[in-house]
Order: sequence, then structure tokens, then C-alpha cells
Amino acid sequence: MEHDEEVAGLRQRFKAELRSALSHQDVQAIRDRFLGRKAGLVTGLYAKLAALPGDAKRGFGRVLNELKGEIEQALEAAQAGLATRAPAAPRLDPTLAGRLPAIGHVHPLTYLRTQIEAYFAAAGYEILDGPESEDDYHNFEALNLPAEHPARDMQDTLYLERPWARAVFPVGGDRATGRSSLAERAGKVERPATLLRTHTSAMQIRYMERHDPPVRIICPGRVYRRDNLDQTHTPMFQQVEGLVVGEGVTMAQLKGTIVAFLRELFGARIDITFRPSFFPYTEPSADVFLRDPQRGPKWLEVLGCGMVNPAVFEAVGYDPERYTGFAFGMGIERLAMLLFGVDDIRQFYENDVRFLEQFPQ
Ligand code: DAH
Repeated sequence: MEHDEEVAGLRQRFKAELRSALSHQDVQAIRDRFLGRKAGLVTGLYAKLAALPGDAKRGFGRVLNELKGEIEQALEAAQAGLATRAPAAPRLDPTLAGRLPAIGHVHPLTYLRTQIEAYFAAAGYEILDGPESEDDYHNFEALNLPAEHPARDMQDTLYLERPWARAVFPVGGDRATGRSSLAERAGKVERPATLLRTHTSAMQIRYMERHDPPVRIICPGRVYRRDNLDQTHTPMFQQVEGLVVGEGVTMAQLKGTIVAFLRELFGARIDITFRPSFFPYTEPSADVFLRDPQRGPKWLEVLGCGMVNPAVFEAVGYDPERYTGFAFGMGIERLAMLLFGVDDIRQFYENDVRFLEQFPQ
């Protein structure tokens, strides 16, 4: 009796296994499991025959032979069926984790520019956009850099093949200065753009032309120079210009502003130093260098600044006896190199996703 149950159990198990067999290998594995010479499950039952008394032995032998015959037939039928059927579709496993789609990522320079903008916006600065193609007046002349001034050589300029005139670039404001730019504004046309701006400082002039003091602005944007591509130079890079003008604005405030900003960005980990420098549009002028002691003893120049030269105020019709101001211009790529520990500026513009993915969003 007990053996009959065993046989019935085996039969059921065999049927279930055969139903889920999808390939010849599956069927062969079932054959081995049930009819294998040594360890086959049915084979194992035959071994029990010997211990049974006469009648029972005969009865059980017949049952076993039937089972074995059935299994063999079913296996053959299954193999034949598989031979004529198309290969089975791969099994779908709905419990497998899905593959994440590749999602875009904020570029590290965009991330940093946003941080800089947020810092200065919170400090009450207005954030301005400016034109990338400029006229000589805004990029040089009004910044105390007349034609033939030797300081124009500080920046190798890219000139446009064909100058173009455009409608007035919107900077807001509505200042009645009676200067020549007013006449241009009345005509709604500007001086023709002849070059790609070499620095964002041009925006100092554009803003002051249209707004009376007090002034508190930053202007982030692309600038262009005839520089060859190397580890620390690209012919296009990004700057953030800053300008503050009012009564009684001091150099101490300039220094405090720059140091507070750099400390916010880098924390305590960097060294900051101001070195005397020269820019025609500021007097006195300074360059700001940063050093990360953990990365070595080299200072990296990240920013130029100074007290607005009275000649610039005269160009825009501000009273230099009444107003003072400070200005600064920083390179976003240089700051990013130090902030993120990148030692080749070109990497920012190669668009290698493996590089870009490593930065905060
Ligand atoms: N225009 C300078 C440059 O391109 C940076 C700069 C220096 C901007 C001093 C300023 C400034 O506003 O006061 O390197």
C-alpha cells in the first residue's frame, strides 16, 4: 500500500516536471532524475522489490513496469514535440530589477555658476545677462582701454569677419545722461559689434550707462580669447563679473566680499591671497590666488579685482567725486578646477559622460 502511494506521488511529480520542461536539456535532465541507472527515482523503487514477499513482489513489479513505460513514452513524446517546435522564448522573470534609463546631469560648470548666482542674489546683487559679440567701445574704450593702449595686449581678441549692428541690448533702466549712447538708444541701434567679448567687464559699462548708483550687479557669461587649448586655457571660457558702486564704497569692502564668497564656496580648506596687479579699469587693482594645501603648494589665479577707476565713471557720466566702487571678474572654470580637484580645464568641454557624472547635481 505504502509503495502504491509512493508510485502515485512519483507519477504526479514527473508530470509536473515534464510540463515545465522547455528544452531538450530539460527533458534529458528529467529522464536522468527518474530513470537514471544509479540514482534514478524509479530505479530506486526497483531495488525495494527484492525485499517483498512473492505476491506483493509480482503486483508491485507490474505497477513499476507500467510507470516506467509511461515515463519513457511521455519523455519520447516530449522530445519529439520539442524537435518540431520553434525555440522557446526566454523566460520572463518579472522579479528581476529593471535597468535604470540614463538620465541627464547638470554640467559641473552650470552647477557652480548656479551656486555663485545664488550666493550673490542672496546678498542683494542683480544678475545680468550680456551680449557675447561686443563693440570696441564697451569691451575696451569705456573701460579706460583706448585704441593703441598696450594693456589691450593682455587679452588676445577674436574679431568678427563682418561687423553687425543690432537692436539695443536690453539691460533695463532708463537713465537720462544726454550722452551719445542716448542718441543711439533713440535710434534703437547700437554701435556695430566687431568682436567677441574678451571679458564680462563690458557689462559694467552697459549697466552703468542705463542705471544711476547705487549699483550691485553680477554678470555671468561666456568670453572668448585667441588662446591655444592647453591644460589651463580654452579659447572660450566663463566669467562672473561683479560691480558695486555707491557713496563710500571701500577697498576693505571689496576684500571682505571676495573673502566671504570664497569661504562660502570652499570652506576653511583653501588659502586665499591678494597680490597687487594692474587693470586699466581699476585703481588700485589686485589678483586673487587660491591654494589647496592638500593638493600642493601651487597658487592658482582665479580672480581679478580692484577699485573702479574714476576714468570709467567719467565714461558713463557718474560723478567720480561722489561715488566710489569696486569690481571683480572671476573665472568659473578655474574655480571649478580647484573646487572639484580637476587638473585639466579641457575635460569640462569634452562631454565625456563618465567625467560629467561624477559631479553634484
Ligand atoms: N576683466 C579681467 C579679466 O578678464 C578680470 C577683472 C579684473 C574684472 C579686475 C574686473 C576687475 O572687474 O576689476 O581677466
